[in-house]
Amino acid sequence: MSTTAIGNIGSLVTNDPESGEGPLGLIENAAVVVEDDRIAWVGPTAQAPPADTAFDAQGRALIPGFVDSHSHLVFAGDRTAEFNARMSGRSYSAGGIRTTVAATRAASDAELEANLVARHLDEARRQGTTTFETKSGYGLTVADEARALRIAAAHTEEVTYLGAHIVSPDYAEDPAGYVDLVTGEMLAACAPYARWVDVFCEKGAFDGDQARAILTAGAAAGLIPRVHANQLSYGPGVQLAVELGAASADHCTHLTDADVDALAQAADTTVATLLPGAEFSTRAQWPDARRLLDAGATVALSTDCNPGSSYTSSMPFCIALAVRDMGMTPDEAVWAATAGGARALRRTDIGVLAPGARADLALLDAPSHVHLAYRPGVPLVSAVWQRGVRAA
Ligand code: NIG
Ligand code: FE
Repeated sequence: MSTTAIGNIGSLVTNDPESGEGPLGLIENAAVVVEDDRIAWVGPTAQAPPADTAFDAQGRALIPGFVDSHSHLVFAGDRTAEFNARMSGRSYSAGGIRTTVAATRAASDAELEANLVARHLDEARRQGTTTFETKSGYGLTVADEARALRIAAAHTEEVTYLGAHIVSPDYAEDPAGYVDLVTGEMLAACAPYARWVDVFCEKGAFDGDQARAILTAGAAAGLIPRVHANQLSYGPGVQLAVELGAASADHCTHLTDADVDALAQAADTTVATLLPGAEFSTRAQWPDARRLLDAGATVALSTDCNPGSSYTSSMPFCIALAVRDMGMTPDEAVWAATAGGARALRRTDIGVLAPGARADLALLDAPSHVHLAYRPGVPLVSAVWQRGVRAA
């Protein structure tokens, strides 16, 4: 057993209203004691118990590490040309996914793993992300989907089967046949590596009936549903997510009042996960976080990091966008990027700094978490601990 006391924290976000002020459980002049991989104590510096080693936070802010509950990181290649065309006026569609499918199928396991770990995870960690979820969806064959999940599962417990990203180009003339594959042989090969099942419920991807069949089959195989819902247009995704008790409805860009009501009613079950990197990178309208929060929905923020619609791994960037353009306060956005992500992953051991929680921490080179929105684009994360170990 070894203990470290991080003291002289100017402002500590615990996300535990029992231990500090407001929903963020803020404590000023705080200390955190870490014992091995867990939080052992939080409170005022003056009352901190003794520890083996000391770390002086020098008045800076400490927050829970970010929980990025939605990303697509097992892929090869990039889509620079598509982005360039979009910034010259072309619109985004699901069809671009096929470019990444071709590159991913052609890549070796080692290339996919290096792209995931050495590149994107490393990049995310340096920006304060300590937990990430990631999906398959760029293989779309039994073997390619299963290998994507196997590679992901070596690096996170939050692995999502997204064989239903788009209809595989191999089944262009037989979408029903592809749904049979996704709910049959592919699911059987993928379920052992995954915790979650997801479907892109959208025009050009899967309609409501197909999505229901895929999520129901996934649930029968022991996977918990989450849904890419209402991203590019109005549609049945959000209602389906709520009806099936999905952990999360992701994107939520085009919502009717009935969709917002459904998410508010399901606030304890189904989180509305907003992905502003996607609206930024596709020049789309922003999801209305204010409307969801005012209705009583639970909101998470995540990067959606993927080579097509949102090629950012930066949770601070998403926080800044959500505050500037989606009506969130800095407090709400920081909660959504930490505790909100944990809720979307149905986890109680992360996104919170309380005794017993995982010692996943991000130290900011700033006196307050508000600076994450106040100083957009500035690399404020100056130290990261994952399970009590200094990771960046
Ligand atoms: O979440 N919406 C579907 N999937 C991704 C985009 C994937 C891609 O364009 O490669 C998303 O935005
Ligand atoms: Fe996505």
